[in-house]
Amino acid sequence: SAIYRAGVFGRRPVVPVAPAALEAAARRRMSARGWAYIAGGAGAERTVAANAAAFVRRRIVPRQMVDVAQRSLATTLLGRRLPAPLLLAPIGALELAVRGGPAHAEPPVARAARELGVPLVISSQASTPLEATAAALGPSPRWFQLYWSRDDDVAASLVARAEAAGAEAIVVTLDTHVLGWRPRDLDLGYLPFARGEGIAQYTSDPAFRRLADARTPAPSSGRPTLAALRAVATMCRHGARRADVETFLDVFSRSNLTWSDLGWLRERTRLPILVKGVQHPDDARRALDAGADGVVVSNHGGRQIDNAIASLDALPAVAAAVRATRPEAPVLFDSGVRTGADVFVALALGADAVLLGRPWVYGLALAGQAGVRAVVRHVLAELDLTMALAGVRDVAEIGPGALADEEGGG
Ligand code: FNR
Repeated sequence: SAIYRAGVFGRRPVVPVAPAALEAAARRRMSARGWAYIAGGAGAERTVAANAAAFVRRRIVPRQMVDVAQRSLATTLLGRRLPAPLLLAPIGALELAVRGGPAHAEPPVARAARELGVPLVISSQASTPLEATAAALGPSPRWFQLYWSRDDDVAASLVARAEAAGAEAIVVTLDTHVLGWRPRDLDLGYLPFARGEGIAQYTSDPAFRRLADARTPAPSSGRPTLAALRAVATMCRHGARRADVETFLDVFSRSNLTWSDLGWLRERTRLPILVKGVQHPDDARRALDAGADGVVVSNHGGRQIDNAIASLDALPAVAAAVRATRPEAPVLFDSGVRTGADVFVALALGADAVLLGRPWVYGLALAGQAGVRAVVRHVLAELDLTMALAGVRDVAEIGPGALADEEGGG
């Protein structure tokens, strides 16, 4: 209501409230490369579209004459009381979204998360070392997202640093052991991270430094190509060492992981482990059997497999499998959440909380800390009004009964 009242007195919002206007404004502000990387998806971007379309198919059925004068968005996740069932999704190479470099990436996001009390999931591929982000977060909750490195020492080191920096959970992203086919980036002749964006977590890591510093330049086979020379010049301009970028590309992920490997991680951290990228109910069961404490239903915002199932369509079966296997294990959801009504729908279909992705990046690009804060407040204000109008007092009451039978099949 504070947001409406401000409007009554003529105050314009910090960033556009309408999702399409927010996106359009961010697009105008960002570089072409930044926009391609942030907004883009895999292939023909059918899964990006499907993520959105899946929300369009779901319909809330409001109930009237319920006393909704007092409402609560608060929830408890992994034993921690949170103001709302919402976290900021991990976003890598964030400096691509902003002007002015890494200092304008994670630090203002962390300060916004702190103002809001909303947990930040710190990306493995952050543009700022996680210790600096943790300092900006102060006492506010943070989780750490792990890309499971090909090098055991690097993986263990990242997890140990996250623990030392107060992370309350490790989110292992399973769906990006190789990077998806991303035509927008390819058309710009651009491989994300090639200029060292998003590798600060690694270059600041002692285990990674040992690998990168030991790397001797490859013996040149004949004359270097013009393209190779240009790439080196670009990296030098951006302060990234070629050995660092090459080492990063070698170790950032592992494609030979199987469920039994989760035991290795389980032994190395006392923190809860959530696996991100689950789309099949059997994978949810196997994850829990292998030692995971929860799952994140996600298709990485449609950035990995084109024609993949919309994440929202995968949610009900995965949530049911988790409930049947371990009722208390949290089910988180992302990919396509743009509005408060979307959060309501995801909760109704079995999510305990959602991760907000691209929208907060757009807020950051437009107005830094205030932009992130505004985007999150808009989403939560709409969730609150949606609850009021649907006849729901508490986020815990939002269930499948709040939705109409699906139109057009799943
Ligand atoms: C991501 N995502 C992501 N996930 C992750 O586990 N680690 C990461 O470093 C990143 N990096 C990243 C960068 C960018 C630019 C985007 C858009 C996404 C995926 C992210 O956490 C989340 O799953 C999606 O953003 C959800 O989709 P929507 O809601 O943004 O469409």
